[in-house]
Amino acid sequence: RLEKMWLTFGVAMLAVFLIVLGIGVFANGAQPPTTHAHGGHEKPAPELAEETAPFDKPGLHKIGDNEYKLVMVAIAFAYKPLEDKIVIPAGATVHFEVTSTDVVHGLQIPGTNVNMMAVPGETTNFTFTFKKPGEYLVLCNEYCGNGHEMMWTTITVA
Ligand code: CUA
Repeated sequence: RLEKMWLTFGVAMLAVFLIVLGIGVFANGAQPPTTHAHGGHEKPAPELAEETAPFDKPGLHKIGDNEYKLVMVAIAFAYKPLEDKIVIPAGATVHFEVTSTDVVHGLQIPGTNVNMMAVPGETTNFTFTFKKPGEYLVLCNEYCGNGHEMMWTTITVA
C-alpha cells in the first residue's frame, strides 16, 4: 500500500512538472515576434523604421524660426530622402534624427563636426547650425559592405 502511494505521488509530481513546462512554452510562444519590451518602451524592429515616426517622413521639416528637423534613414548604400534635394537656408539650426534599416552606417559631414552613427532600431540625434553657404558632402564612415565607398549624398546650404 505504501509503495502504491509513493508511485501515485511520483506520477502526480511528473504531471505538475509537465503542465508548468507546457504553460511556460505557451507563454513564450504567444509573444509577438517583432516587438521587444525594454523597460516598458516598445522598440520597433529596424525594418519597420520606415513605418515609424519620424522616419516614415524622411527629409527636412521646418519646426521653428530658422530651425529645422532633418530626418534621414540610412540604407545600404544610400540615405533617404533619395529624390528630394535637401536645401537648408544659411544660418539655420538643424536637428538631425538618423536611423538605419539594416546595418550600422555612419553619417559624417566633412568640414563640420557632424559625425553620427546610424544604428538599426535606434535614433541618433545631433544639432548643427549651418552658417556657411555651399554644398556639403554627407558620407558614410562606417564600413557597411560592398557599396560602402558609394554611400554618400549632398546637402545644399543657400
Ligand atoms: Cu554605409 Cu558605409
